[in-house]
Amino acid sequence: MLVTGAAGSVGQQLLPGLDGVALRLLDRVAADAPPGAEVVTGELTDRDLLRRALSGIDAVVHLAGDPRPGAEWDELEGPNVDGFAALLGAAREQGVRRVVFASSVHAMGRHESAGRFPVEASWAPAPCCPYGATKAFDEALAGVHAVRGGPSAIGLRLGATVERPTQSSQLTGWLGPADLRQLVVRALAADVAFGVYPGVSANTRQRWDLTTARADLGYEPVLDAEAYAGDVEDDGRAVTTCTLPG
Ligand SMILES: NC(=O)c1ccc[n+]([C@@H]2O[C@H](COP(=O)([O-])OP(=O)(O)OC[C@H]3O[C@@H](n4cnc5c(N)ncnc54)[C@H](O)[C@@H]3O)[C@@H](O)[C@H]2O)c1
Repeated sequence: MLVTGAAGSVGQQLLPGLDGVALRLLDRVAADAPPGAEVVTGELTDRDLLRRALSGIDAVVHLAGDPRPGAEWDELEGPNVDGFAALLGAAREQGVRRVVFASSVHAMGRHESAGRFPVEASWAPAPCCPYGATKAFDEALAGVHAVRGGPSAIGLRLGATVERPTQSSQLTGWLGPADLRQLVVRALAADVAFGVYPGVSANTRQRWDLTTARADLGYEPVLDAEAYAGDVEDDGRAVTTCTLPG
């Protein structure tokens, strides 16, 4: 299996959940790799590198990208749009079966900021920022590939994917490490040609409807941000995604 963006924050939280899987890791910087993992260092948009990285690969977990909701389109377009498009094209050429990729709750952020929740996975994308728009584009392009011969693709709209919530705004959209690992493993195995699902834990203050993730992927989150509610800093924000004017 290939994991892109393995050196990053989500990648490092995920890797212990892939124990026993033969891993190849791709990142532009050297990743902390488990014993036995192959490491490929370079850019997602390097087609030769992608061809080598995907050779003999059955499934990809794609995490490489710019995770900053406050970033501008010019900063995001290379890693989040061009990089993902290159990966999907190369995965198709190499006959990869499944791509599980990191989307974000920001692809649906206007629903949350307008008070329309719990947000259902099937609603139309409504990004709250250029970052969310790159993720909505990624979901659309992955769907095109899935219906035109593959790879099959599952997008996970990750919430605040951190060891534990530290700010009050994360209490509604936290994804804890054990749930991240379970969700990715189940998405890799699910009998689904294409789908997008929220990636959050079973938070008491839930805003993301997990019905389809439970039904299609068998996702059964076990963590709840409420356990940390007494310890978080009040950041004065009512949403995990972007607070919009008006
Ligand atoms: N961290 C979160 O809370 C969160 C929430 C929602 C979605 N996501 C998504 O999850 C993914 C991982 O996020 P993260 O927090 O681990 O980010 P991160 O910045 O910690 O890690 C991303 C990794 O991708 C690599 N990378 C970026 N562009 C690359 C390129 N063009 N070629 C090769 N490698 C490249 C970086 O070197 C880095 O190691 C991102 O797609 C992000 O948008 C993260």
